[in-house]
Amino acid sequence: MAVERTFVIIKPEAVARRLVGEILARFERKGLSIKALSVTQIERQVAEEHYAHHRDKPFFPHLIEAITEGPVVLAILEGDDAITQVRNLVGATDPIKAAPGTIRGDFALRLPYNMVHAADAPSAAEAEIKRFFGN
Ligand code: CMP
Repeated sequence: MAVERTFVIIKPEAVARRLVGEILARFERKGLSIKALSVTQIERQVAEEHYAHHRDKPFFPHLIEAITEGPVVLAILEGDDAITQVRNLVGATDPIKAAPGTIRGDFALRLPYNMVHAADAPSAAEAEIKRFFGN
């Protein structure tokens, strides 16, 4: 067990559905601390950099469109094993596979609209925090 920081994007579809409070409440209820919070709209160039590892996938254009189409909430969360804890709360990438009780299992129906992005490893969390919040 180690205290970790992780990075989360509450995506445009979640903001549009007024689910920001509900989603943040789940992270807080679990025992994680909100260390930074920001409302912004992600620019296309930043989105393409963030999702560069998906550049060759057929869904890439749709993914970029979806993440840039409206305001998002960016968050840094901290706590014991925060990266794994947050991914467990968020659920499987594909809403059809996400268990009920998870954020995606409870609020999302289909890709790419899965409500939340969460960093999947310490190195990704650090890089994403730097990309979206600076140093
Ligand atoms: P996220 O956790 O933000 O990381 C990559 C995103 O790509 C993912 O959530 C989904 O929004 C999207 N995605 C992944 N797989 C697919 C797919 N097969 N079709 C459409 N979108 C996808």
